[in-house]
Amino acid sequence: TTLLFKSQGCVPRTSEMNHFLRYCTSMNIVILAAGMGKRMHSRLPKVLQPLAGRPMLDHVLSAVDALATEKVVVVGHCAQEVKDHYEGQSGLRFVLQMPQLGTGHALMQAWPALDKAQSHTLVCLGDVPLLSSATVEKMKAQAKGDDLVLLTVNLDQPKGYGRIVRNAQGQVTSIVEEKDATDEQRAIREVNTGIMLLPTARLDGWLKRLSNDNAQQEYYLTDLIGFAAQDGVAISTVQPDHVYEVEGVNSKVQLVTLERVWQRAQAQRLLEAGVTLIDPDRIDIRGELVCGRDVEIDVGCIFEGHVELADGVRVGAYSVIRNAKIEEEVEILPFCHFDGATVGKASRVGPYSRLRPGAELKGNNHIGNFVEVKKSVVGLDSKVNHLTYIGDADIGQRVNVGAGTITCNYDGVNKFRTVIGDDAFIGSDTQLVAPVVVGAGATIGAGTTLTRNAPEGKLTLSRARQMTIEGWTRPTKK
Ligand code: UD1
Ligand code: CA
Repeated sequence: TTLLFKSQGCVPRTSEMNHFLRYCTSMNIVILAAGMGKRMHSRLPKVLQPLAGRPMLDHVLSAVDALATEKVVVVGHCAQEVKDHYEGQSGLRFVLQMPQLGTGHALMQAWPALDKAQSHTLVCLGDVPLLSSATVEKMKAQAKGDDLVLLTVNLDQPKGYGRIVRNAQGQVTSIVEEKDATDEQRAIREVNTGIMLLPTARLDGWLKRLSNDNAQQEYYLTDLIGFAAQDGVAISTVQPDHVYEVEGVNSKVQLVTLERVWQRAQAQRLLEAGVTLIDPDRIDIRGELVCGRDVEIDVGCIFEGHVELADGVRVGAYSVIRNAKIEEEVEILPFCHFDGATVGKASRVGPYSRLRPGAELKGNNHIGNFVEVKKSVVGLDSKVNHLTYIGDADIGQRVNVGAGTITCNYDGVNKFRTVIGDDAFIGSDTQLVAPVVVGAGATIGAGTTLTRNAPEGKLTLSRARQMTIEGWTRPTKK
């Protein structure tokens, strides 16, 4: 395979090679997601309910992503909404299960969509979001020939789950659902997680044998395990590293419980990588946070989308940072809000600064309290320290923007740019009515409404002349 992969770049792949590659690396994946989720009490379909900012189904798709290029998702309740959500995303195939007659019935609906050449078919559940890719890899590694691999866990409180029934030799012989179980079977603590790797070639025959002659009058996927044992198919089991990986979500209570588990696991990962978290229970990562060395994050921060914090970055308390790149040694003071921004080396931003999409600070900048920057470049060593709006602007190096400065970038219909040259000084309370250019080294007097370009190196100001009225007295109460 090494040779094969090496040659991919220069030699066009033949269809046989493609087939071989797929055979080596792939399997069928079926995700059951047709159930209702009544206990969520929400209009949003259950599998779209967010965990760490992403739908639960996204987490399942990520866990199995490396195993197959195409995933089959069985949808039923709110099927259209789920399909619409993934509109345009490649590698997903939706199969409708209507009505929902059980997990076995769900797999029956998926069967026509499966690649019969794949030796195994992995079944996952759309409402079991924290399944790890390590666990599915472990299942895959254990699969051989046409055997069957079950993911099971031992629970002190197995109530509600299907129980794993083993014979005297310890071999799995069946799974019995709680509602169909004898008292003796209910005492079994090893339970079915619902996640299993099935031999594809056997599926058609087994699915045809399913009946709904049971306590719930459903077609049980779990009955396939009994068929496998009867047919002499080897059944082995794998345990996940953490029980939370196989916990299902039926209510907001369970969802938030797993959210905390996930957040704690992310915090743990950061701490182990050397990041200083003032309190690992008070950080939320809804996406991907990449940190360099000696990064320090104070309490209450939320990271969304893809965020990079380079070496030595310090993030003050209660900041919300989304899709941002923060370069070395930047200090973010508390209560900042960034979205789609880049902050250059050694800058100091905040407290209470807002950087909106397209804000690009080149480095060593000071952005202070109640300053908003949008779609603007702020050059090296420039400072915008207080109460200012910078929108659609190009600011050069070593510029000082005084308090209360506003770029008037919008005429109600169109947006215009403001350009400020290197070493310019913008006096406080200035309105820059765009399009307008402030030349390099120009000084703008405080309180100016700049409607025409200000020349380089000179003082420009627009200001009513100050006067004092002699002999004026304050009115008195009549
Ligand atoms: C199922 C298992 C049980 C296991 C438990 C783990 C069966 C018969 N039982 O029980 O052994 O311990 O999961 O959580 O398989 N779904 C469909 N279509 C259907 C029914 C369900 O797509 O017709 C989907 C649901 O959306 C859900 C999953 O399958 O994601 C499991 O369904 P659920 O009703 O929760 O199964 P359980 O009865 O809890
Ligand atoms: Ca369930």
